[in-house]
Amino acid sequence: MADLLPFWSAPDEPLDCLYLATAEGYTPLGELLLPDDTRAAIAHAIDDLGVRGGEGEVLVTASPSPLFRRIACFGIGKRAEFSLYALRRLLRRVLEQAGRNREYQIAVALPFAPHDVEPDEARALTLSELALADYRFDRFRSHPDEATKVDGVSIVPLCGESEESLGTMLDRARRLDNLVRLARDLGNRPGNDLNPSTFARELVALFAQTPVRVTVMGPKELEKDGLRGILGVGQGSVHEPRLVRLEYRAKKPRAAVVLVGKGVTFDAGGISLKPVADMALMKHDMAGAAAVVAAMRAVAEDGPPLKVVGLLPLVENLPSGNAFRPGDILTLCNGVTVEVEDTDAEGRIVVGDAMAYAARFHPDVLIDLATLTGACKVALGVELAGLFANDDALAGQIERLGMRTGDRVWRLPLLPQYRDLLRSEWADLKNAGGRWGSLPASAAFLSRFVPGNARWAHLDIAGVAYVVKGHNGLPAGATGFGVRLLLGLLDDLVARQ
Ligand code: BES
Ligand code: MN
Ligand code: ZN
Repeated sequence: MADLLPFWSAPDEPLDCLYLATAEGYTPLGELLLPDDTRAAIAHAIDDLGVRGGEGEVLVTASPSPLFRRIACFGIGKRAEFSLYALRRLLRRVLEQAGRNREYQIAVALPFAPHDVEPDEARALTLSELALADYRFDRFRSHPDEATKVDGVSIVPLCGESEESLGTMLDRARRLDNLVRLARDLGNRPGNDLNPSTFARELVALFAQTPVRVTVMGPKELEKDGLRGILGVGQGSVHEPRLVRLEYRAKKPRAAVVLVGKGVTFDAGGISLKPVADMALMKHDMAGAAAVVAAMRAVAEDGPPLKVVGLLPLVENLPSGNAFRPGDILTLCNGVTVEVEDTDAEGRIVVGDAMAYAARFHPDVLIDLATLTGACKVALGVELAGLFANDDALAGQIERLGMRTGDRVWRLPLLPQYRDLLRSEWADLKNAGGRWGSLPASAAFLSRFVPGNARWAHLDIAGVAYVVKGHNGLPAGATGFGVRLLLGLLDDLVARQ
């Protein structure tokens, strides 16, 4: 990623370009903390260019100020309609254009805050979006696109911003950027690169020399602790299943939190094989696990006064002569028996098993993130994750955090009648019912595995974890959804308990 620097004083050499966001009607140059003569020169240039500020307008001119070589004005349209998605699109286009023009050092001036973000968070969020705006996954390209590399982005301070407050926001932006990139990289890695054992091995390395303890459970340990759901789903692949435990404990923890992330490194559907279309996409069926990994990295770095345990059931769901079958009955680790109606509804089995296993950590709060159902993607699209919770306060907290962090959610019903859809003739429940209500039914399934009185929230991230083509300013591929939400939640738990 490009370095983010605050633009407090004139650089030794002029920067290649100043990127300035402009709006229809009025561009508040007065809100930028720049020397008066620079500001006046920019105002002139804008006039000369005939900037109108319409969305998509891009106008470039030689800079009238010695601080920059040129000035590029990017229109955002109506100020009141400037949204988070529009911000993401704008920043991505700025960095792409700068890269294409071989500009290595640029400045960015953003005097507008998105209207759909809480005002006190808007600036920090803008800066973290800026940090992420040049993300692309090019690990497997022999010739990564050199043209897109900007080295340094200088942020023009806004009036009223102190060196300290901008510095703090930039630190936060860099940290979020690193964590979201970590989750995206994991989500983008294909199944032949990231399988349960390579994933687990990398986690051991990632948390070495941190206060987070990593335990990798293989088939033997899974058998011993009765995690037959994870074993069953994973048995069709030569890559054996794992359950990875990431444990952190402060001296005097204020609360115990367990985070469960669905870690299906590839989901072919098993014997209930998926159709070819979009199957390749199922390399990201471990995006929930990726978000939990990133959140645990943050925990390792910050050491909050909490007990935090990440549980990652890692499996590959493949058809084979040894795969689990429709009709099989699996006993999960809390003794609940599950009849397999559809081997493609594997996520709830491995997540449910891990949730039941979480009982031994006595969680006050249990959060699970899973790319669980296509139905959630149909219902909410790629804009919102589905939220189910057994506690209104926790649900409200997550809804608010969703708006603050940009990882937006929509609450859906967790009602006992949906359990009826999963009645089995032969076991305690089936893993899939009919078509109707299959989304709330998936949450009703998971609700059978919540330990004790834990306050529990389930996030179905099937729609939001991955975009096939660039969308709303997100680059193609894994989005890292959930990372910022989890960090916000952990902060909240520290503050409130
Ligand atoms: N991993 C899929 C869900 C999914 C679909 C995630 C699209 C991301 C994008 C999950 O394991 C699955 O296959 N679910 C089935 C459940 C059904 C068989 C009850 C589905 O949604 O079709
Ligand atoms: Mn599936
Ligand atoms: Zn799946």
